[in-house]
Amino acid sequence: MKLQKRDLVSLADWSREEIWEVLELAKRLKEERRAGIRHDRVLRGKTLALLFQKPSLRTRVSFAVGMEELGGNALYLGPDEVKLGVRETIEDVALVLSRYVHGVMARVFEHAVVEELARFATVPVINGLSDMYHPCQALGDMLTIWEWKRHLEGLTLVFVGDPNNVANSLMIACAKLGLRFRLACPEGYGPGEEILRHVRGSGGEVEVIHDPAEAVEGAEVVYTDVWVSMGEEAIAERKRRDFAGFTVDLALLGRAKSDSILMHCLPAHYGEEITYEAARSRHSMIFEQAENRLHAQKALLALLLG
Ligand code: CP
Ligand code: NVA
Repeated sequence: MKLQKRDLVSLADWSREEIWEVLELAKRLKEERRAGIRHDRVLRGKTLALLFQKPSLRTRVSFAVGMEELGGNALYLGPDEVKLGVRETIEDVALVLSRYVHGVMARVFEHAVVEELARFATVPVINGLSDMYHPCQALGDMLTIWEWKRHLEGLTLVFVGDPNNVANSLMIACAKLGLRFRLACPEGYGPGEEILRHVRGSGGEVEVIHDPAEAVEGAEVVYTDVWVSMGEEAIAERKRRDFAGFTVDLALLGRAKSDSILMHCLPAHYGEEITYEAARSRHSMIFEQAENRLHAQKALLALLLG
């Protein structure tokens, strides 16, 4: 793949082949890391800026460790330092950072901000979560499903809960890689038009079912995420009310296939979208997913910055 200033703003812009290239490389890097093989010359002398408007554990640490393992550096820029669009314009931040670093990972509130960074930066920009998408999470998740199910095409993934940024990126990844996507959510919620356009444009479909028990029937993958995402604190109470009854617990999981896997991007709010018992059950892959962020992003960094 020829990648000249290639960004990852949304998986909608990536082809099935490009996504598979990341997954295949990630799998190899994971195996080699376990075997003690190091790749610390791949990004030697390269720096990735980590620009955060919101908190993070996994994204921050996996990108920092990933850069270090590839021989490069990561520079953390927290919400109070750059003040994107407040202290100076997004355009100027993009142009200045491009003079210092070889790539920018940005976690932002509004998706338009990461789009604007990508438009003006002359180095690759990676979306580390926006209100619309979380493509790095979907890459790590596809790696996890592939590892545990040995294939992707034809599997049914049921997302129980809020059709949020994580769900949106999963919908697009599933459409591109041939998984069936079913959404279990309350009446009044559902995927936005833009997402559905991308999904259909990639040959996929989203089935929406308002009864979680019916939705998970026959699922190979059950996925959930928080009901209240970062930035939605003002509507938290209403969302908790709306999503009551959509908790993934052992009883719900029992309706999926007996060898189904349970996924959650974390952080989890135990007792809300998922019970602690379900998250610790034999089905749960949540810590595998967290680990796979590292491998998938190392592959991504090697391809974009290498
Ligand atoms: N899943 C995820 O992106 O976690 P963080 O918010 O901790 O980075
Ligand atoms: N949907 C969550 C994901 C956190 C990784 C949020 O945006 O807060």
